[in-house]
Amino acid sequence: MIEEKNAGGAGSLESHLAALEKENRMLRLENTQMKMAMERSSLYNLTKDRLIEVVTAEKTKQEKFMGRLLENSPDIILTLDRQYRFVNCTDVFLRSAGIADFGLIKNLTVFDVFSAFAPDTAAKMRTALEGLCETNDTVIMGEVLDIGKNGRPRHYEIHITKMFERGEPDGAILLLIDITDVIRAKEELETINAAMKELIANISHDLKTPLTVMSVNLEELSNLVRAYGGGEELIGKVGAAWRKNLDLQRITQNLLEVSRIETGRSIYNPDWLSVSELMLKVQDRYEDYLEDKALYLNTAYGKDMSLWLDEQKIWSVFDNVIYNAVRYTAKGGISITAAEDGANATVIIRDTGSGVAPADLPHIFERFYKASGARGGMAGDSGLGLYIVKSIMEAFEGSVSAKSAPGKGTSVILTFKRRAQL
Ligand SMILES: Nc1ncnc2c1ncn2[C@@H]1O[C@H](COP(=O)(O)OP(=O)(O)OP(=O)(O)O)[C@@H](O)[C@H]1O
Ligand SMILES: [Mg+2]
Repeated sequence: MIEEKNAGGAGSLESHLAALEKENRMLRLENTQMKMAMERSSLYNLTKDRLIEVVTAEKTKQEKFMGRLLENSPDIILTLDRQYRFVNCTDVFLRSAGIADFGLIKNLTVFDVFSAFAPDTAAKMRTALEGLCETNDTVIMGEVLDIGKNGRPRHYEIHITKMFERGEPDGAILLLIDITDVIRAKEELETINAAMKELIANISHDLKTPLTVMSVNLEELSNLVRAYGGGEELIGKVGAAWRKNLDLQRITQNLLEVSRIETGRSIYNPDWLSVSELMLKVQDRYEDYLEDKALYLNTAYGKDMSLWLDEQKIWSVFDNVIYNAVRYTAKGGISITAAEDGANATVIIRDTGSGVAPADLPHIFERFYKASGARGGMAGDSGLGLYIVKSIMEAFEGSVSAKSAPGKGTSVILTFKRRAQL
């Protein structure tokens, strides 16, 4: 046969050798691939082991952190399984409830445990938990609880969150935050606040009469000094005392007004008043004051109309706006113009003073706000004037706003309900 094969010729031997060579190449290739596969698999195993190691370490770390957190948390945290049995709780809960060991409640539901000292809360918790049907939904309720019946009921804010796994309920977390001290502090603050408001109201009320009497006497004294030919210095001093008295009257009036606003005791009796009458009264009330300050006072209006306002309270509005304008205007003066503005009417009080910085402008109607920097916040001012103006204008169903160009002046815009003059 061999001979036959050999006899077959050199060509067949060559092809046989070529086939062997090819087979050899294939085997070498397979060998390399197998080696690579083995390397990959050992690399994979190595990576997997390392990954497991890292994840386990991280998990242990997290568990440790959580453990610490639960031990030291000042709040009560209860974790429950899907039957609402205890899985874990913070130590503060065991201490408050007088439970010596967690093992004693481990197989009980939160309802069993809470029923012992707060059956109503236990029932509310059950309703809340059964009602929750979406992950991340939390019910928050406020309860007064005497946990463990130790005779010291405290206020808790209870946050109830239900957990879900692939749409199925999978336990719950209850967080009980002790807010007793916060509530107590708030109550104390409210009592102090009310007492302060009462005190301010009483003092400013009691100051009103003597200040008015003083003002009348100072005016008479000023006339007498002039009549008896008192010197310029004396006239000046009496005048200064009279002006300071006016400041004091304005401040006490503002304090009284604020305490009335804050305690809801402000009484408003708005009615229709014609613009023509209002402007006459404005002119009458402020012209001497402005002349005294060497400032002009212009009033103007178009068609007469009626504005919805309280004739007593409106003077707190004008007094404050005009007092501000005078305070911040060294030269020039004040123009007051009334005009229709759609269904409403506006009365604009424009001064030629120092203006309000853009950063301050949005805040000047806030209580106690005084502009900072070179332009604002004069000594003796309390930052109440424009807050009062705003409160009163809103009580007339109107509003107030301001525009200002620093260095050029300020416009305070009062908006009133209007109707045609009958
Ligand atoms: N016409 C004005 N020109 C420039 N600044 C003004 C003007 N009106 C108000 N301001 C600024 O707005 C701030 C708030 O005014 P507001 O009348 O409320 O308080 P106040 O004048 O500081 O104190 P109070 O009026 O209670 O005595 C002022 O401190 C002042 O800086
Ligand atoms: Mg003011």
